[in-house]
Amino acid sequence: VSIKFILPDGQVKLVNAKLGSTLLDVVLDNNVAIDGFGACEGTLACSTCHLVFSEQDFNKLPTKASDEELDMLDLAYGLTETSRLGCQIKVTEDMNNMQVTVPAGMADARFR
Ligand code: FES
Repeated sequence: VSIKFILPDGQVKLVNAKLGSTLLDVVLDNNVAIDGFGACEGTLACSTCHLVFSEQDFNKLPTKASDEELDMLDLAYGLTETSRLGCQIKVTEDMNNMQVTVPAGMADARFR
């Protein structure tokens, strides 16, 4: 499926995402240049994979955030109502043409 990343500097990166891979993998596999993204490699320990969705897209995401993800999101920089952690979201067909915003800053929760 096709997913569009809006980077903090306004650049737009359109990528092909494999079904079943996490948005963290999608970012890494497609060399989307986000400094420090996914620092804990998807172990739910850093919050650097923070992504923001439109409300409509947010509701289309395949899973709701677990309590662990919500705790980690609380530590993320610039948290919004429609924030999720990329490493916790697996790509589904419903996510075709989604637009994902990468927040301007990030906080690595491991260094708090
Ligand atoms: Fe660290 Fe997602 S990659 S919490």
